[in-house]
Amino acid sequence: MKQFEIAVYPGDGIGPEVTDEAVRVLHAVAQRDGTFALNLTTFPWGYRYWEQHGRVVPEDFIDVLRPFDAIFLGAVGWPEKLPDHVTLAPLVEIRQTFDQYACVRPAKLLPGVRSVLADKGPEQIDFVVLRENSEGEYVNVGGRFKRGQADEIAVQTAVHSRRGVERILRYGFALALRRRQRLTMVTKSNAQRFSYVMWDEILETLAPEFPAVEVDRQHCDAAVMNMVRMPEHFDVIVASNLFGDLLTDLGGTIGGGLGLAPSTNTNPQRTAPSMFEPVHGSAPDIAGQGIANPVAAILSAAMMLDHLELHAAAERIRNAVERAMASGAQTRDLGGTLTTREAATAVLEQLESA
Ligand code: NAD
Ligand code: IPM
Ligand code: MN
Repeated sequence: MKQFEIAVYPGDGIGPEVTDEAVRVLHAVAQRDGTFALNLTTFPWGYRYWEQHGRVVPEDFIDVLRPFDAIFLGAVGWPEKLPDHVTLAPLVEIRQTFDQYACVRPAKLLPGVRSVLADKGPEQIDFVVLRENSEGEYVNVGGRFKRGQADEIAVQTAVHSRRGVERILRYGFALALRRRQRLTMVTKSNAQRFSYVMWDEILETLAPEFPAVEVDRQHCDAAVMNMVRMPEHFDVIVASNLFGDLLTDLGGTIGGGLGLAPSTNTNPQRTAPSMFEPVHGSAPDIAGQGIANPVAAILSAAMMLDHLELHAAAERIRNAVERAMASGAQTRDLGGTLTTREAATAVLEQLESA
């Protein structure tokens, strides 16, 4: 039997609530499959850990995580008590240190889920945002001068490397070839003349290698408009770290809601563990009520199984989610009445009855 070591970082707010349900689904699918076992180790890091230890994660957290086959994360952040840039720093550090450069965030409206866009249904809404996840606007380069004074200056520099842009675009082309053969690169090269013009040039160099893929470029302002008015245009969207972040809250919403949107943080070379987590955050507004939608976490768990090459099990989870959604087994964010636990139980029932 194949064995996989999984690090689980439930985090804050609804993170632990949705993680519990994703773990329940993972155990069920492993048991049913019978060819693999997942050995889970949970790390109680985040705001509560900070209360006890004065840090969000232990100093050696990177060394602790490195030996694992994958990391599953719920959500982090408790802004009322601790500034977000403190709570969230380890998350970004994991992505960068483990070179999880490909952040894959599908947005697919499932039958039975209400669309936020008038006249757009599952036929029109099925795209993936591929977010550059290792550099760009998320690199901690910069500083503050004359802190707190009236003439204070803050400088924050984005870093885009040719290698970084080329590898995310190649990943995007490969993904487009497995889908509907369209790649849209989103930048802001009409205003940011150094970084995004380099993105344009690299795209132009690579595109001839993939003649089967139809390529277009959009500036980010136009892209957000087009995602709303004609989502059917999009298949694979490739964007920088920050634009990818923005586009995936929108993408998640167009795909039915953030409660459904999964994400990977993939290291395609497998030189370090990859990490899987919902697109959404810790949702302090609904935390502790047991009403969070567990589906984004469950679908992120399915993406983790895909990464571990347990494709049949991953597909079983996705099918179960689809049937549960179609049957109306939905939480409040989708207009339903189910609790977090009940919604996950509905998915488990579909798994078992398949
Ligand atoms: P959020 O994604 O937590 O919530 C946005 C809205 O969506 C809220 O109204 C919330 O109730 C709703 N929502 C989110 N997930 C849901 C779910 N599973 N079911 C039902 N409703 C859901 O974003 P925010 O409120 O801007 O941020 C809250 C905290 O999370 C902040 O500390 C932020 O920095 C952090 N954050 C963390 C991550 C992460 O861990 N990867 C991602 C985004 C935000
Ligand atoms: C996300 C989140 C993170 C990001 C935050 C929590 C740092 O919004 O995963 O989308 O900006 O990448
Ligand atoms: Mn985000």
